[in-house]
Amino acid sequence: MKIAVVGATGMVGEVMLKVLEERNFPVTELLLVASERSVGKKLTYKNNEYTIIGLADAVAAKPQIAIFSAGGDTSIEWAPKFAEVGTTVVDNSSAWRMDPSKKLVVPEINAHELTKEDKIIANPNCSTIQMVMALAPLHKKYKMKRVIVSTYQSVSGTGVKAVKQLENEIAGVEGEMAYPYPIGRNALPHCDVFLENGYTKEEMKLAREPQKIFNDKTFSVTATAVRIPTAGGHSESVNVEFESDFDLADVRKMLHETPGVIVQDNTDTNTYPMPIYAHNKDEVFVGRIRRDETQPNTLNMWIVADNLRKGAATNTIQIAEYLVENNLV
Ligand SMILES: NC(=O)c1ccc[n+]([C@@H]2O[C@H](COP(=O)([O-])OP(=O)(O)OC[C@H]3O[C@@H](n4cnc5c(N)ncnc54)[C@H](OP(=O)(O)O)[C@@H]3O)[C@@H](O)[C@H]2O)c1
Repeated sequence: MKIAVVGATGMVGEVMLKVLEERNFPVTELLLVASERSVGKKLTYKNNEYTIIGLADAVAAKPQIAIFSAGGDTSIEWAPKFAEVGTTVVDNSSAWRMDPSKKLVVPEINAHELTKEDKIIANPNCSTIQMVMALAPLHKKYKMKRVIVSTYQSVSGTGVKAVKQLENEIAGVEGEMAYPYPIGRNALPHCDVFLENGYTKEEMKLAREPQKIFNDKTFSVTATAVRIPTAGGHSESVNVEFESDFDLADVRKMLHETPGVIVQDNTDTNTYPMPIYAHNKDEVFVGRIRRDETQPNTLNMWIVADNLRKGAATNTIQIAEYLVENNLV
């Protein structure tokens, strides 16, 4: 495969290269792409040095697949140009996610919907991916009615600038701010921008994307998204009401048997998911599984994943693998 990584110098881009290498993705030619600021700089992949190129040169090279993590504006402008020359784009930004003509894919759940005609494929939001991974088997059996999610999101979810802000604050150095307030020793109930309805864009992604991924509008999701001073890994408290009652042992068993999900749940040994353990892992970790005692058919759980891995790079590359394995590119 001739493959382009757009946004190769970014937080997600760096992990993309790592994951491509680890999974031994069939790369025959690699194009590393970033903004004009980075053109000419060098990056290493599998011990070989590559020179960063610009977007126009990458389109001219007609890669079979382009994986994008360079922000929404870049995707809006450039993904169609790649698609026009026959490239299949898998995009990490929010640009195409809710476009009815584009698929929003978590491979374990709905990759079977992909066809050769899909030239721009959207990767869901990082907080959505980890949540739906755990909800998918439960929704299938018990049918969700309503989900209430509160997130505890790491600074790496915002990008390089935010990681630098936290590092500067810890070191006591003044520097550029990614957030309107200090993030160290703080919690900001503010991920992405505020919308007219009083929610943030991140909260509305959590509300809308699951319905599209499950192709089901019969359940609803309401969210509060909070940024906390962890370097990497997002955590979520999820309360889910089902149509039918469940057996707690069965819930644990189903989650345990779900590929890509790991149950870490033993209160006797203080075993529960935490961002430091999810770091650098591709799986989604689920724990604190318990019945909500205040209303029927309702479950509480705690879900953690590495936002740069399953929340971004790994999911994107799994989509690319599916395309290759099923001759869709
Ligand atoms: N961080 C996460 O957990 C996460 C998860 C899921 C999705 N995403 C999405 O992935 C994208 C990148 O996020 P990130 O955290 O990796 O951000 P980042 O660390 O700020 O990196 C941004 C990347 O985009 C490139 N870029 C910026 N403007 C460009 C332009 N005009 N043309 C070409 N390349 C351009 C940058 O290149 P230069 O180095 O040359 O500036 C850099 O490689 C965003 O859309 C984000 O929403 C992030």
